[in-house]
Amino acid sequence: MAKSEKKATGKRYKICVVGAGHVGLVASACFAELGHKVVCVDNNKQKINRINKGRMPFYEPGIDELVKKNIGKNLNFSSSFAGSIARSEVIFIAVGTPPKSDGSADLSSIENVAATIARNINSYKLIVGKSTVPVQTGQKIKETIKRYEKKKVTFDVASNPEFLREGKAIYDFFYPDRIVIGIESKRAEKILKEIYRKIKAPLIVTDINTAELIKHASNSFLATKISFINAVARICDLAGADVKKVSLAMGKDKRIGKEFLDAGVGYGGFCFPKDVEAFIYISQKLGYSFDLLRQVKKINDIQKATFVERVKEYLWILKRKRIAILGLSFKPDTDDMRFAPSIDIINFFLKEGAMLNLCDPQSNLEAKKIFKTGRQVKYFRNPYRACEGCDCICLVTEWKEFKDLDLKKIKRSMKYPLIADGRNMFDKDKAIKLGFEYIGVGR
Ligand code: UGA
Repeated sequence: MAKSEKKATGKRYKICVVGAGHVGLVASACFAELGHKVVCVDNNKQKINRINKGRMPFYEPGIDELVKKNIGKNLNFSSSFAGSIARSEVIFIAVGTPPKSDGSADLSSIENVAATIARNINSYKLIVGKSTVPVQTGQKIKETIKRYEKKKVTFDVASNPEFLREGKAIYDFFYPDRIVIGIESKRAEKILKEIYRKIKAPLIVTDINTAELIKHASNSFLATKISFINAVARICDLAGADVKKVSLAMGKDKRIGKEFLDAGVGYGGFCFPKDVEAFIYISQKLGYSFDLLRQVKKINDIQKATFVERVKEYLWILKRKRIAILGLSFKPDTDDMRFAPSIDIINFFLKEGAMLNLCDPQSNLEAKKIFKTGRQVKYFRNPYRACEGCDCICLVTEWKEFKDLDLKKIKRSMKYPLIADGRNMFDKDKAIKLGFEYIGVGR
Protein backbone atom coordinates (compact mmCIF):
# COMPACT_ATOMS: atom_id res chain seq x y z
CA MET A 1 0.00 0.00 0.00
CA ALA A 2 2.67 2.42 1.08
CA LYS A 3 4.67 1.51 -2.03
CA SER A 4 1.84 2.11 -4.50
CA GLU A 5 0.97 5.36 -2.75
CA LYS A 6 4.55 6.49 -3.14
CA LYS A 7 4.44 5.52 -6.82
CA ALA A 8 1.26 7.49 -7.40
CA THR A 9 2.41 10.71 -5.77
CA GLY A 10 6.18 10.44 -6.29
CA LYS A 11 8.87 11.41 -3.85
CA ARG A 12 8.51 14.63 -1.91
CA TYR A 13 11.94 16.14 -1.50
CA LYS A 14 13.20 18.13 1.43
CA ILE A 15 14.39 21.25 -0.32
CA CYS A 16 16.30 24.20 1.03
CA VAL A 17 16.25 27.32 -1.14
CA VAL A 18 18.94 29.82 -0.20
CA GLY A 19 17.86 33.40 -0.97
CA ALA A 20 14.40 34.95 -0.63
CA GLY A 21 14.73 37.28 -3.61
CA HIS A 22 12.57 37.15 -6.72
CA VAL A 23 13.89 33.79 -7.91
CA GLY A 24 14.31 32.18 -4.48
CA LEU A 25 10.98 33.19 -2.98
CA VAL A 26 8.97 32.32 -6.08
CA ALA A 27 10.78 28.97 -6.52
CA SER A 28 10.23 28.15 -2.82
CA ALA A 29 6.50 28.80 -2.99
CA CYS A 30 6.20 26.88 -6.28
CA PHE A 31 8.23 23.86 -5.10
CA ALA A 32 5.98 23.75 -2.02
CA GLU A 33 2.91 23.91 -4.25
CA LEU A 34 4.33 20.95 -6.21
CA GLY A 35 4.25 19.01 -2.93
CA HIS A 36 7.87 19.24 -1.77
CA LYS A 37 8.83 20.20 1.77
CA VAL A 38 10.59 23.54 1.43
CA VAL A 39 12.54 25.80 3.71
CA CYS A 40 13.60 29.13 2.25
CA VAL A 41 16.54 30.72 4.07
CA ASP A 42 17.88 34.22 3.88
CA ASN A 43 20.43 35.95 6.12
CA ASN A 44 18.26 39.09 6.18
CA LYS A 45 16.32 38.39 9.39
CA GLN A 46 14.03 41.37 8.93
CA LYS A 47 13.00 40.11 5.51
CA ILE A 48 12.29 36.62 6.87
CA ASN A 49 10.26 38.05 9.79
CA ARG A 50 8.19 40.11 7.38
CA ILE A 51 7.53 37.14 5.08
CA ASN A 52 6.50 35.08 8.10
CA LYS A 53 3.96 37.83 8.88
CA GLY A 54 2.66 37.61 5.30
CA ARG A 55 4.43 40.72 3.96
CA MET A 56 6.28 39.96 0.73
CA PRO A 57 9.54 41.84 0.01
CA PHE A 58 8.41 42.80 -3.53
CA TYR A 59 5.30 43.07 -5.63
CA GLU A 60 4.64 40.00 -7.77
CA PRO A 61 1.12 39.03 -8.85
CA GLY A 62 -0.05 35.89 -7.00
CA ILE A 63 2.94 35.43 -4.68
CA ASP A 64 1.14 36.56 -1.50
CA GLU A 65 -1.62 34.01 -2.05
CA LEU A 66 0.74 31.15 -2.92
CA VAL A 67 2.91 31.77 0.14
CA LYS A 68 -0.16 32.10 2.36
CA LYS A 69 -1.55 28.82 1.03
CA ASN A 70 1.62 26.81 1.78
CA ILE A 71 3.29 28.55 4.72
CA GLY A 72 3.47 26.45 7.88
CA LYS A 73 2.61 23.34 5.83
CA ASN A 74 5.01 22.60 2.98
CA LEU A 75 6.74 25.95 3.23
CA ASN A 76 8.78 27.55 5.96
CA PHE A 77 11.05 30.57 6.13
CA SER A 78 14.13 30.78 8.29
CA SER A 79 17.31 32.74 8.79
CA SER A 80 19.10 29.74 10.26
CA PHE A 81 21.29 28.25 7.53
CA ALA A 82 22.96 25.48 9.49
CA GLY A 83 19.88 23.49 10.55
CA SER A 84 18.07 24.10 7.24
CA ILE A 85 21.01 22.80 5.23
CA ALA A 86 21.53 19.78 7.48
CA ARG A 87 17.85 18.77 7.23
CA SER A 88 17.59 19.09 3.42
CA GLU A 89 18.30 16.66 0.61
CA VAL A 90 18.49 19.27 -2.13
CA ILE A 91 19.82 22.81 -1.79
CA PHE A 92 19.00 25.40 -4.43
CA ILE A 93 21.26 28.44 -4.44
CA ALA A 94 19.22 31.49 -5.46
CA VAL A 95 21.25 34.38 -4.06
CA GLY A 96 21.99 37.60 -5.95
CA THR A 97 24.87 37.95 -8.38
CA PRO A 98 24.98 41.76 -8.75
CA PRO A 99 27.27 43.50 -11.24
CA LYS A 100 30.68 44.80 -10.20
CA SER A 101 32.02 48.04 -11.63
CA ASP A 102 34.04 46.13 -14.28
CA GLY A 103 30.88 44.38 -15.52
CA SER A 104 31.70 40.99 -14.01
CA ALA A 105 29.23 39.26 -11.71
CA ASP A 106 29.87 39.53 -7.98
CA LEU A 107 29.87 35.89 -6.90
CA SER A 108 30.81 36.47 -3.26
CA SER A 109 27.31 35.47 -2.01
CA ILE A 110 27.55 32.23 -3.98
CA GLU A 111 30.95 31.48 -2.44
CA ASN A 112 29.59 32.29 0.99
CA VAL A 113 26.68 29.87 0.57
CA ALA A 114 29.00 27.14 -0.75
CA ALA A 115 31.29 27.58 2.28
CA THR A 116 28.29 27.47 4.65
CA ILE A 117 27.08 24.27 2.98
CA ALA A 118 30.59 22.81 3.41
CA ARG A 119 30.54 23.54 7.13
CA ASN A 120 27.11 21.98 7.64
CA ILE A 121 27.00 19.08 5.22
CA ASN A 122 26.12 15.91 7.12
CA SER A 123 24.79 13.50 4.47
CA TYR A 124 24.48 13.31 0.65
CA LYS A 125 23.23 16.61 -0.76
CA LEU A 126 22.47 17.79 -4.25
CA ILE A 127 23.53 21.42 -4.54
CA VAL A 128 21.86 23.20 -7.42
CA GLY A 129 22.79 26.60 -8.80
CA LYS A 130 19.65 28.55 -9.70
CA SER A 131 21.09 32.06 -9.72
CA THR A 132 22.27 33.39 -13.07
CA VAL A 133 26.01 32.83 -13.06
CA PRO A 134 28.89 32.88 -15.52
CA VAL A 135 29.90 29.58 -17.07
CA GLN A 136 32.21 27.51 -14.82
CA THR A 137 30.65 28.72 -11.55
CA GLY A 138 29.36 25.21 -10.75
CA GLN A 139 32.95 24.04 -10.86
CA LYS A 140 33.91 26.75 -8.35
CA ILE A 141 31.03 25.79 -6.04
CA LYS A 142 32.29 22.22 -6.04
CA GLU A 143 35.86 23.30 -5.32
CA THR A 144 34.70 25.59 -2.50
CA ILE A 145 32.68 22.87 -0.79
CA LYS A 146 35.62 20.47 -1.04
CA ARG A 147 37.96 23.12 0.33
CA TYR A 148 35.88 23.92 3.43
CA GLU A 149 34.03 20.68 4.14
CA LYS A 150 34.37 19.54 7.74
CA LYS A 151 33.29 15.99 7.02
CA LYS A 152 33.96 13.89 3.89
CA VAL A 153 30.44 13.43 2.51
CA THR A 154 29.35 12.59 -1.04
CA PHE A 155 27.57 15.45 -2.79
CA ASP A 156 26.65 16.50 -6.30
CA VAL A 157 26.60 19.91 -7.87
CA ALA A 158 24.11 20.78 -10.63
CA SER A 159 22.86 23.81 -12.53
CA ASN A 160 19.18 24.54 -13.04
CA PRO A 161 18.89 28.07 -14.43
CA GLU A 162 15.62 29.88 -13.86
CA PHE A 163 13.92 31.57 -16.81
CA LEU A 164 11.00 33.23 -15.05
CA ARG A 165 10.08 36.83 -15.77
CA GLU A 166 9.18 39.28 -13.05
CA GLY A 167 5.47 40.03 -13.14
CA LYS A 168 4.72 36.61 -14.63
CA ALA A 169 6.97 34.62 -12.34
CA ILE A 170 4.48 32.06 -11.01
CA TYR A 171 3.03 31.32 -14.44
CA ASP A 172 6.54 30.97 -15.88
CA PHE A 173 7.54 28.57 -13.11
CA PHE A 174 4.63 26.21 -13.72
CA TYR A 175 4.49 26.60 -17.51
CA PRO A 176 8.08 27.09 -18.64
CA ASP A 177 9.15 26.83 -22.28
CA ARG A 178 11.84 24.41 -21.10
CA ILE A 179 13.55 23.12 -17.99
CA VAL A 180 17.34 22.98 -18.20
CA ILE A 181 19.31 20.74 -15.87
CA GLY A 182 23.08 20.60 -15.96
CA ILE A 183 24.37 17.55 -14.12
CA GLU A 184 27.43 15.40 -13.58
CA SER A 185 25.81 12.25 -12.22
CA LYS A 186 22.80 10.00 -12.87
CA ARG A 187 21.79 10.49 -9.22
CA ALA A 188 21.54 14.26 -9.64
CA GLU A 189 19.63 13.85 -12.91
CA LYS A 190 17.11 11.50 -11.27
CA ILE A 191 16.48 13.85 -8.34
CA LEU A 192 15.96 16.92 -10.50
CA LYS A 193 13.68 15.03 -12.87
CA GLU A 194 11.60 13.90 -9.89
CA ILE A 195 11.42 17.38 -8.42
CA TYR A 196 9.98 18.73 -11.68
CA ARG A 197 7.96 15.66 -12.65
CA LYS A 198 4.59 17.45 -12.42
CA ILE A 199 5.62 20.20 -14.82
CA LYS A 200 4.93 19.49 -18.45
CA ALA A 201 7.80 21.05 -20.38
CA PRO A 202 10.70 19.90 -22.56
CA LEU A 203 13.53 18.85 -20.28
CA ILE A 204 17.02 19.53 -21.54
CA VAL A 205 19.79 17.64 -19.79
CA THR A 206 23.32 18.94 -20.25
CA ASP A 207 26.62 19.21 -18.43
CA ILE A 208 26.91 22.02 -15.86
CA ASN A 209 28.92 24.45 -18.00
CA THR A 210 26.42 24.17 -20.85
CA ALA A 211 23.44 24.77 -18.55
CA GLU A 212 25.05 27.90 -17.12
CA LEU A 213 25.87 29.17 -20.58
CA ILE A 214 22.31 28.56 -21.84
CA LYS A 215 21.04 31.15 -19.35
CA HIS A 216 23.53 33.85 -20.31
CA ALA A 217 23.03 33.12 -24.01
CA SER A 218 19.22 33.26 -23.70
CA ASN A 219 19.12 36.58 -21.84
CA SER A 220 21.73 38.11 -24.11
CA PHE A 221 19.88 36.94 -27.22
CA LEU A 222 16.63 38.49 -25.98
CA ALA A 223 18.48 41.74 -25.21
CA THR A 224 19.95 41.57 -28.73
CA LYS A 225 16.46 41.28 -30.22
CA ILE A 226 15.38 44.39 -28.30
CA SER A 227 18.44 46.40 -29.29
CA PHE A 228 18.07 45.26 -32.90
CA ILE A 229 14.51 46.54 -33.13
CA ASN A 230 15.51 49.73 -31.30
CA ALA A 231 18.21 50.32 -33.92
CA VAL A 232 15.64 49.68 -36.65
CA ALA A 233 13.36 52.18 -34.87
CA ARG A 234 16.06 54.84 -35.19
CA ILE A 235 16.18 54.23 -38.94
CA CYS A 236 12.37 54.35 -39.07
CA ASP A 237 12.48 57.77 -37.39
CA LEU A 238 15.04 59.01 -39.90
CA ALA A 239 13.25 57.52 -42.91
CA GLY A 240 9.64 58.21 -41.88
CA ALA A 241 8.66 54.53 -41.53
CA ASP A 242 6.65 52.76 -38.80
CA VAL A 243 8.61 50.32 -36.60
CA LYS A 244 5.42 48.80 -35.18
CA LYS A 245 4.47 47.56 -38.63
CA VAL A 246 8.06 46.46 -39.31
CA SER A 247 8.14 44.32 -36.14
CA LEU A 248 4.63 43.01 -36.77
CA ALA A 249 5.62 41.77 -40.22
CA MET A 250 9.03 40.50 -39.07
CA GLY A 251 7.44 38.62 -36.19
CA LYS A 252 5.10 36.71 -38.49
CA ASP A 253 8.15 34.88 -39.79
CA LYS A 254 8.25 31.86 -37.48
CA ARG A 255 12.04 31.83 -37.61
CA ILE A 256 12.06 35.32 -36.08
CA GLY A 257 9.00 35.23 -33.80
CA LYS A 258 7.03 38.22 -32.55
CA GLU A 259 8.24 38.29 -28.93
CA PHE A 260 10.77 40.88 -27.76
CA LEU A 261 10.46 42.97 -30.90
CA ASP A 262 8.79 45.96 -29.23
CA ALA A 263 10.84 49.10 -29.74
CA GLY A 264 10.96 51.48 -26.81
CA VAL A 265 13.20 53.26 -24.35
CA GLY A 266 15.27 50.11 -23.93
CA TYR A 267 15.54 47.13 -21.66
CA GLY A 268 16.13 47.40 -17.91
CA GLY A 269 15.72 45.34 -14.77
CA PHE A 270 18.12 43.30 -12.73
CA CYS A 271 18.70 40.68 -15.42
CA PHE A 272 19.38 41.88 -18.97
CA PRO A 273 21.74 44.80 -18.19
CA LYS A 274 23.87 42.79 -15.77
CA ASP A 275 23.75 39.53 -17.72
CA VAL A 276 24.79 41.15 -21.01
CA GLU A 277 27.72 42.78 -19.19
CA ALA A 278 28.66 39.58 -17.39
CA PHE A 279 28.52 37.59 -20.64
CA ILE A 280 30.79 40.13 -22.34
CA TYR A 281 33.16 39.89 -19.37
CA ILE A 282 33.34 36.09 -19.11
CA SER A 283 33.68 35.74 -22.92
CA GLN A 284 36.62 38.15 -22.83
CA LYS A 285 38.16 36.22 -19.95
CA LEU A 286 37.83 32.99 -21.90
CA GLY A 287 39.49 34.63 -24.92
CA TYR A 288 36.59 35.84 -27.08
CA SER A 289 35.68 39.46 -27.63
CA PHE A 290 31.86 39.51 -27.85
CA ASP A 291 31.63 42.80 -29.80
CA LEU A 292 28.05 42.13 -30.89
CA LEU A 293 26.96 42.32 -27.25
CA ARG A 294 28.96 45.52 -26.73
CA GLN A 295 26.82 47.10 -29.45
CA VAL A 296 23.65 45.70 -27.87
CA LYS A 297 24.53 47.49 -24.66
CA LYS A 298 25.51 50.68 -26.47
CA ILE A 299 22.26 50.83 -28.44
CA ASN A 300 20.34 50.34 -25.19
CA ASP A 301 22.18 53.20 -23.49
CA ILE A 302 21.69 55.57 -26.44
CA GLN A 303 17.98 54.78 -26.63
CA LYS A 304 17.21 56.62 -23.39
CA ALA A 305 19.25 59.71 -24.27
CA THR A 306 17.62 59.87 -27.69
CA PHE A 307 14.17 59.79 -26.11
CA VAL A 308 14.95 62.85 -23.99
CA GLU A 309 16.58 64.61 -26.97
CA ARG A 310 13.40 64.19 -28.98
CA VAL A 311 11.32 65.78 -26.20
CA LYS A 312 13.86 68.58 -26.13
CA GLU A 313 13.44 69.14 -29.87
CA TYR A 314 9.75 69.91 -29.21
CA LEU A 315 10.02 71.85 -25.95
CA TRP A 316 13.37 73.55 -26.73
CA ILE A 317 14.31 74.68 -23.21
CA LEU A 318 13.50 72.10 -20.53
CA LYS A 319 14.31 74.29 -17.54
CA ARG A 320 11.16 74.79 -15.45
CA LYS A 321 9.03 72.85 -17.97
CA ARG A 322 6.74 70.43 -16.11
CA ILE A 323 6.89 66.88 -17.37
CA ALA A 324 4.81 63.88 -16.24
CA ILE A 325 6.70 60.59 -16.20
CA LEU A 326 4.16 57.77 -16.41
CA GLY A 327 5.71 54.50 -15.33
CA LEU A 328 8.85 54.14 -13.22
CA SER A 329 9.37 50.38 -12.76
CA PHE A 330 11.51 48.68 -15.42
CA LYS A 331 8.39 47.03 -16.83
CA PRO A 332 4.72 46.65 -15.85
CA ASP A 333 3.45 44.38 -13.04
CA THR A 334 6.47 44.84 -10.82
CA ASP A 335 7.67 47.47 -8.37
CA ASP A 336 11.27 46.73 -9.33
CA MET A 337 13.25 49.88 -10.11
CA ARG A 338 16.65 48.22 -10.57
CA PHE A 339 18.27 49.50 -13.78
CA ALA A 340 14.88 50.85 -14.88
CA PRO A 341 15.14 53.04 -18.02
CA SER A 342 13.13 55.65 -16.10
CA ILE A 343 16.15 56.33 -13.84
CA ASP A 344 18.39 57.54 -16.67
CA ILE A 345 15.51 59.42 -18.30
CA ILE A 346 14.63 61.19 -15.05
CA ASN A 347 18.28 62.06 -14.45
CA PHE A 348 18.58 63.59 -17.94
CA PHE A 349 15.50 65.73 -17.34
CA LEU A 350 16.61 66.78 -13.86
CA LYS A 351 19.99 67.85 -15.22
CA GLU A 352 18.19 70.10 -17.69
CA GLY A 353 16.23 71.70 -14.84
CA ALA A 354 12.80 70.22 -15.69
CA MET A 355 10.08 69.85 -13.03
CA LEU A 356 8.90 66.24 -12.85
CA ASN A 357 5.60 64.65 -11.84
CA LEU A 358 6.42 60.99 -11.27
CA CYS A 359 3.66 58.40 -11.32
CA ASP A 360 3.63 54.61 -11.06
CA PRO A 361 0.93 52.19 -9.89
CA GLN A 362 3.37 50.16 -7.76
CA SER A 363 6.87 51.58 -7.56
CA ASN A 364 6.48 55.13 -6.19
CA LEU A 365 7.84 53.91 -2.86
CA GLU A 366 10.88 52.29 -4.48
CA ALA A 367 11.43 55.34 -6.67
CA LYS A 368 11.38 57.65 -3.62
CA LYS A 369 14.53 55.87 -2.42
CA ILE A 370 16.28 57.13 -5.58
CA PHE A 371 14.58 60.48 -6.22
CA LYS A 372 13.48 62.33 -3.09
CA THR A 373 10.38 64.50 -3.22
CA GLY A 374 11.52 68.10 -3.60
CA ARG A 375 11.39 71.23 -5.71
CA GLN A 376 11.92 69.34 -8.98
CA VAL A 377 10.26 66.03 -8.07
CA LYS A 378 6.68 65.30 -7.06
CA TYR A 379 4.96 61.91 -6.82
CA PHE A 380 1.44 60.99 -7.88
CA ARG A 381 -0.60 57.82 -7.61
CA ASN A 382 -3.30 59.23 -9.88
CA PRO A 383 -2.09 59.67 -13.50
CA TYR A 384 -4.70 62.35 -14.24
CA ARG A 385 -3.36 64.47 -11.38
CA ALA A 386 0.20 63.80 -12.55
CA CYS A 387 -0.55 65.21 -16.02
CA GLU A 388 -2.27 68.40 -14.80
CA GLY A 389 -0.48 71.57 -15.92
CA CYS A 390 2.25 69.62 -17.74
CA ASP A 391 4.07 70.57 -20.94
CA CYS A 392 4.66 66.95 -21.82
CA ILE A 393 3.69 63.41 -20.80
CA CYS A 394 6.45 60.78 -21.08
CA LEU A 395 5.12 57.26 -21.09
CA VAL A 396 8.05 55.16 -19.89
CA THR A 397 6.42 51.93 -18.64
CA GLU A 398 3.41 50.46 -20.39
CA TRP A 399 1.18 49.72 -17.37
CA LYS A 400 -2.34 48.68 -18.36
CA GLU A 401 -3.68 51.52 -16.16
CA PHE A 402 -2.06 54.00 -18.54
CA LYS A 403 -3.29 52.34 -21.72
CA ASP A 404 -6.89 52.93 -20.69
CA LEU A 405 -6.42 56.61 -19.81
CA ASP A 406 -8.96 59.12 -21.09
CA LEU A 407 -6.64 61.22 -23.27
CA LYS A 408 -9.36 63.76 -23.99
CA LYS A 409 -9.67 64.52 -20.28
CA ILE A 410 -5.89 64.67 -19.91
CA LYS A 411 -5.47 67.08 -22.80
CA ARG A 412 -7.88 69.56 -21.19
CA SER A 413 -5.73 69.70 -18.05
CA MET A 414 -2.33 70.05 -19.74
CA LYS A 415 -0.45 73.25 -20.41
CA TYR A 416 0.87 71.95 -23.73
CA PRO A 417 -0.45 68.71 -25.28
CA LEU A 418 2.69 66.71 -26.04
CA ILE A 419 2.96 62.94 -25.61
CA ALA A 420 6.34 61.22 -25.77
CA ASP A 421 5.34 57.58 -25.98
CA GLY A 422 8.43 55.63 -24.94
CA ARG A 423 6.69 52.28 -25.41
CA ASN A 424 4.59 53.00 -28.51
CA MET A 425 1.57 52.19 -26.35
CA PHE A 426 -0.93 54.88 -27.26
CA ASP A 427 -2.96 54.94 -30.45
CA LYS A 428 -0.94 57.53 -32.38
CA ASP A 429 -3.70 58.51 -34.84
CA LYS A 430 -6.24 58.92 -32.03
CA ALA A 431 -3.82 61.06 -30.00
CA ILE A 432 -3.14 63.32 -32.99
CA LYS A 433 -6.87 63.56 -33.75
CA LEU A 434 -7.43 64.73 -30.17
CA GLY A 435 -4.93 67.52 -30.80
CA PHE A 436 -1.80 66.07 -29.22
CA GLU A 437 1.67 66.37 -30.66
CA TYR A 438 3.00 62.82 -30.63
CA ILE A 439 6.54 61.47 -30.32
CA GLY A 440 6.86 57.70 -30.71
CA VAL A 441 9.88 55.43 -30.90
CA GLY A 442 10.40 54.69 -34.60
CA ARG A 443 6.99 55.80 -35.81
C1 UGA B 1 14.26 38.35 -18.05
C2 UGA B 1 13.97 37.15 -18.96
O1 UGA B 1 12.87 37.43 -19.82
C3 UGA B 1 13.65 35.90 -18.12
O2 UGA B 1 13.50 34.78 -18.98
C4 UGA B 1 14.79 35.66 -17.15
O3 UGA B 1 14.53 34.54 -16.30
C5 UGA B 1 15.01 36.88 -16.29
O4 UGA B 1 15.30 38.00 -17.15
C6 UGA B 1 16.15 36.61 -15.36
O5 UGA B 1 17.27 36.43 -15.84
O6 UGA B 1 15.93 36.43 -14.15
P1 UGA B 1 12.72 40.09 -16.69
O7 UGA B 1 14.01 40.82 -16.46
O8 UGA B 1 11.81 39.84 -15.56
O9 UGA B 1 13.06 38.63 -17.33
O10 UGA B 1 11.90 40.94 -17.75
P2 UGA B 1 11.53 40.86 -19.30
O11 UGA B 1 10.08 40.64 -19.42
O12 UGA B 1 12.42 39.93 -20.02
O13 UGA B 1 11.86 42.35 -19.75
C7 UGA B 1 13.18 42.89 -19.67
C8 UGA B 1 13.23 44.29 -20.21
O14 UGA B 1 13.13 44.28 -21.63
C9 UGA B 1 12.14 45.22 -19.71
O15 UGA B 1 12.69 46.47 -19.37
C10 UGA B 1 11.20 45.34 -20.90
O16 UGA B 1 10.50 46.57 -20.91
C11 UGA B 1 12.18 45.25 -22.05
N1 UGA B 1 11.56 44.82 -23.32
C12 UGA B 1 11.02 43.58 -23.42
C13 UGA B 1 11.56 45.68 -24.41
O17 UGA B 1 12.05 46.81 -24.34
N2 UGA B 1 11.01 45.24 -25.58
C14 UGA B 1 10.46 44.01 -25.72
O18 UGA B 1 9.98 43.69 -26.83
C15 UGA B 1 10.46 43.16 -24.61
